[in-house]
Amino acid sequence: MTARTRPRLEIPGAAALLGELVPLAGNGGSAQLAATGERLATLAPQLDITEALRTARREGRGVAVAGAGEGPLLAVAVFPAQAPTPIHGHGGWGVAVLLTGRCDLTAFRIGPDGVASSLGVRRLHPGEATWWTRVYDVHRQSAVADEAVELVLLERNPDGAPRYEPPAVPASGGLLERFSAAYGAGDLDALAAVYAPDVLLDANVPVWRYQAAGRDAVLATLREELAEVTDRRATWWHITPSNAGGVVELETRNTYHGKPVLVRDAHLLAVGGEAVEQIVAHTMWCTGIWDADTVRQQARAAPMVLP
Ligand SMILES: [Fe+2]
Repeated sequence: MTARTRPRLEIPGAAALLGELVPLAGNGGSAQLAATGERLATLAPQLDITEALRTARREGRGVAVAGAGEGPLLAVAVFPAQAPTPIHGHGGWGVAVLLTGRCDLTAFRIGPDGVASSLGVRRLHPGEATWWTRVYDVHRQSAVADEAVELVLLERNPDGAPRYEPPAVPASGGLLERFSAAYGAGDLDALAAVYAPDVLLDANVPVWRYQAAGRDAVLATLREELAEVTDRRATWWHITPSNAGGVVELETRNTYHGKPVLVRDAHLLAVGGEAVEQIVAHTMWCTGIWDADTVRQQARAAPMVLP
């Protein structure tokens, strides 16, 4: 076995699971992969991955638990804390469910110069699944805070997956990332630290628009909005810096009057300030609040190309 060959350790039930999932994934269309992800999330807890996990930790890489040759295969993958993977591809589609921890999966497109551009970050919590088509195969995974463990179904098993150059770090990226984390978590203290004292909020929401001028007024408005939700967390974001600031797109999941909801919004941020860079103008566009029925209906009627 070379250092780049994926270890194999068959575990009871894994071959049957693989046999059920591969026909569901079909030719790797996005709707098929989304359905496969739901099934994988339902069935994954039935597997006893104890031995595979031990092997994966020891070897420092994913362990195939079912599948032969070039694939498809089912694997247990471990992402240690503070150790993002390289930006890589597997040469085919994939479906993953997170078993423990939290994990960020960043999708990339590769430019002609070989440099990767982020298409967005999806944050997985235990029991949540995601997937990628052959077109959007290039990604990076990164555990959040503690080790993350995942069960992944791969169309192919390219030992020695190709790696790509990371994107150039933008000048204002730090401020945009702080805004993204603060807004995604609904953390008003952290938002106060990134807003300029004279920040202008221009909020465009479904069939309505309002503004607030000055940091205190903006925070008071947001406090009122956030008072209606609990359990807020960001599940996807995409940050696009520009010379003047940038755009932060966000998807959050919240509990709204006791029911789970999803919200997607875009934030156009103008950055200024002399000694310290701060946000001087914040224009927001929001999809409104999607209840669980709307989320299901959207997934059925308009399956995504990139989740
Ligand atoms: Fe991967």
